[in-house]
Amino acid sequence: MLKFQGANILSVNQFDRESIEYLFNIASKMEPYAHRQKRTRVLDGAILGNLFFEPSTRTRVSFGTAFNLLGGHVRETVGISNSALAKGESLYDTARVLSSYSDVIAMRHPEAGSVAEFAEGSRVPVINGGDGANEHPTQALLDLFTISKEQSAHGKSIDGMHIAMVGDLKYGRTVHSLSKLLRLYKDIKFTFISPNALAMPDSVISAVEDAGHKVEIKDQLEGNLDADIVYQTRVQEERFESEEEANKYRGRFRLNQAIYTQHCKSNTVIMHPLPRDSRSAANELDNDMNQNPNLAIFRQADNGVLMRMALFACTLGVENVVEQYDDKVVWFSNKSQG
Ligand code: NCD
Repeated sequence: MLKFQGANILSVNQFDRESIEYLFNIASKMEPYAHRQKRTRVLDGAILGNLFFEPSTRTRVSFGTAFNLLGGHVRETVGISNSALAKGESLYDTARVLSSYSDVIAMRHPEAGSVAEFAEGSRVPVINGGDGANEHPTQALLDLFTISKEQSAHGKSIDGMHIAMVGDLKYGRTVHSLSKLLRLYKDIKFTFISPNALAMPDSVISAVEDAGHKVEIKDQLEGNLDADIVYQTRVQEERFESEEEANKYRGRFRLNQAIYTQHCKSNTVIMHPLPRDSRSAANELDNDMNQNPNLAIFRQADNGVLMRMALFACTLGVENVVEQYDDKVVWFSNKSQG
């Protein structure tokens, strides 16, 4: 079991099933706070350094929201050009300084390995919010939490399930981290659907196969979507040499209600880490699916707040005392339905 208190969260490789169950349990206990049925001041006075050196909406705001929901304060730095990294400061120096201003740091950076490098200079826990094409552990945890809830709503478990991952599997860090995390479960069938040039890295495929799971590699949607979960992704244009190169693959796999009806099972759950690229040249996940009850993308994003609350509570060692700092919500709120 991972010793959460004081730990950096840098990679999904740190987790075993027991640690995941522990986190899921804490994340579920965060629901009344996220739904505004009550509030807590357990992290009153604590400061999150939220450092996002790469574009982000959900991940950045949900880290901040999660910390605020626990009663803590958020200091944000956005973009390399607005930080002293643009003046040649090392990640180590930035970490030494900012970690004395914060109690915990969440960080996203375009280079693989950068968050781990930063963590070496930090005196407080560092949580990886995505390092280049490498890893995105908190997304994988919230994805797994979502899969677990969606599967149990259909009377199924993660063990034995079939997941199809679609799109840019080469540069998509969410699919790398999620596949590696799923290794901890049993008898999973993975269908990796991508253009050849954007295939899942061999290192991830062999890690999954070595753990005893079944892997299928495909290059078209049709005939390959009869899975429990279909996890669609965006072409990671920011990691390509040129826009033209990315354009070759945009719009290659378009999932819409007609394809769903024809090729998915009646209750296949559709996930996407978001943002979905809704421009007409891409439109990888059509708006015509918005009313489909099996479209889990917004439940997935909501689960991100719960999972990040759980991670902050655990790394700061307050997960068992949250309720001691409860307070009432006095303003109007209609979020109690979830
Ligand atoms: C993903 C990311 O940044 O890796 N988004 C996210 O964190 N929710 C996927 C993407 O940007 O396509």
